[in-house]
Amino acid sequence: MKTLWVEASPKQEHSLSSALAQEFLGAAPVAVVGEVERFSVWADDVVTFGREAAFAKFAPLYGERQTPEQKQIWSQILAEIERVRAFDRLVVSSPMWNWHVPHALKAWIDVIVQPIASFTLNERGEHVGTLGQGKPLQLILTRSSAYDGDRPDLQDFQRPYLEYVFTMLGYSVETLVFEPTTRWTAEEREQMRHAALEEARRAGHELAGG
Ligand SMILES: Cc1cc2nc3c(=O)[nH]c(=O)nc-3n(C[C@H](O)[C@H](O)[C@H](O)COP(=O)(O)O)c2cc1C
Repeated sequence: MKTLWVEASPKQEHSLSSALAQEFLGAAPVAVVGEVERFSVWADDVVTFGREAAFAKFAPLYGERQTPEQKQIWSQILAEIERVRAFDRLVVSSPMWNWHVPHALKAWIDVIVQPIASFTLNERGEHVGTLGQGKPLQLILTRSSAYDGDRPDLQDFQRPYLEYVFTMLGYSVETLVFEPTTRWTAEEREQMRHAALEEARRAGHELAGG
């Protein structure tokens, strides 16, 4: 049993979403999460999808041969997809940045979402994920405002995007949202943090139905 924790906040020990993921994973029974690997999408050695990858992606469709540089980046992309496939469970923690996800998380998603390698099309032309195979994926999301529909000017592209893309890849997605995370006094912030950690702990504990 192996769990991959995908960490999208760059704030490390100052990050609320990372602290909540740690609390969630720490409370979950070892038999359910097994060995946990922490993976920051901000790490220097994360594969990036740029110019050569964009050409490599479409070369086979256009009947063109991949250059050595394109073959090289493509093998790194396929290796990253296979690394993710080897995990039994994923936890993705992320803050909202400008109504969406931090660009480093989107950049990593651009690596792992690939036709044939992580999804395919059925006979009706619909996307069918082949990476997740129904495995559980927990989203742990933070944002400073409340996206409860009361304010039409506040649009949430974070939660729907992440739920859509990981469901599309074949994962069984559950979501925990913590909002609003901005409080004006230190005492209020501490209270919010305390209550959020408690909720994350409870959710982790319940993973085993315990
Ligand atoms: C660059 C940046 C952009 C942000 N954009 C939004 C936003 O559009 N909406 C929102 O509600 N909060 C926004 N926030 C606030 C964070 O989502 C919030 O503080 C969150 O709790 C931070 O989580 P973290 O401590 O795990 O990084 C933004 C924060 C940063 C740093």
